[in-house]
Amino acid sequence: MAPKFAGAVRKTLVKAGFDPLLVTVPAGETAKSLSSVQACYDRLALHRLERKSFIVALGGGVVGDLAGFVAATYLRGIDFVQVPTTLLAQVDSSVGGKVGVNLKAGKNLVGAFHQPRLVICDLETLKTLPAREYRAGLAEVIKYGIIYDAGLFARLEHDLPRLLRREPKTLAAVVARCCEIKADVVGQDETESGLRAILNFGHTIGHALEAISSYGTYLHGEAISLGQIAATGISARTLGLPAREANRIRLLFHGAGLPTRLKLTTAQRRKLFQAMRLDKKVSGGEIRFVLARRIGRVEWGQRVSDRLIHEALDAIENR
Ligand SMILES: NC(=O)c1ccc[n+]([C@@H]2O[C@H](COP(=O)([O-])OP(=O)(O)OC[C@H]3O[C@@H](n4cnc5c(N)ncnc54)[C@H](O)[C@@H]3O)[C@@H](O)[C@H]2O)c1
Ligand SMILES: [Zn+2]
Repeated sequence: MAPKFAGAVRKTLVKAGFDPLLVTVPAGETAKSLSSVQACYDRLALHRLERKSFIVALGGGVVGDLAGFVAATYLRGIDFVQVPTTLLAQVDSSVGGKVGVNLKAGKNLVGAFHQPRLVICDLETLKTLPAREYRAGLAEVIKYGIIYDAGLFARLEHDLPRLLRREPKTLAAVVARCCEIKADVVGQDETESGLRAILNFGHTIGHALEAISSYGTYLHGEAISLGQIAATGISARTLGLPAREANRIRLLFHGAGLPTRLKLTTAQRRKLFQAMRLDKKVSGGEIRFVLARRIGRVEWGQRVSDRLIHEALDAIENR
């Protein structure tokens, strides 16, 4: 995002008496690598950044995770500020302090917990975001409604057209509420020993879908849209999520232009289950799910049989 916004940020920093150094990385997930980390360290060292210096992570979640990890480790940790420029980064990745990079063996395998000193969400930046990226961010927004706030969910249903038009007032209220929810959850369980797991609603199947399509077919938001819809089906079967609420969930994803159906071959299904078992969130080889009892109320650590997962996938299969 350097070409779009770096100039304005630099000006502001200079005006405030700082001496900023601009470090850029190529767009895309590949920038979240140890070689980028190394390149950043070298630039910081050359520019003689000190313990009291700070990093501004200006960009999407990739930049936030990478710059945050550099900040967490350079000189054993310096301050950093998140200035997220995608909807996903504004409502999710910039808040909560999880930072890190990918290895060949998998996503986010190296990282730290390092809280930003400040998160600045400038909604103006979202104006240039491609429609597909924007909708992908909405998948996380809808997630907050399902896991924590039935009122937010109802508001999303009501305000969806305005939200899709990126109407500033609606967007401001929704982004603020999502950040509040994330901060609230993380504030109660920073290192994910319990409650924080609810943020993974839809992510067990979603991550596995991303992994078996080699991170190519679906954006993260699209994969977790399908994951949330599958988890909704499982919730209806196991926790008694009312059919009417399950329908509202499907309709909202559909209305937001997110994928709600998928077709997997038998071989892809097998790979999907393998990928779910490899996921970081598996403990003792057992796949655990976050499931909804009602919209706004979920439970984590739920055991689900393979059969139920298959049935939930059957139910959303494209025919
Ligand atoms: N740390 C966490 O808690 C957490 C949570 C969720 C996701 N993540 C991570 O976030 C990353 C995904 O973040 P993302 O969805 O923001 O993707 P991203 O950072 O790759 O950004 C998506 C694309 O949009 C471009 N872009 C960014 N801002 C723009 C703007 N304002 N206008 C036009 N284009 C813009 C980027 O250059 C990129 O090409 C993943 O690596 C994921 O693992 C981290
Ligand atoms: Zn997510």
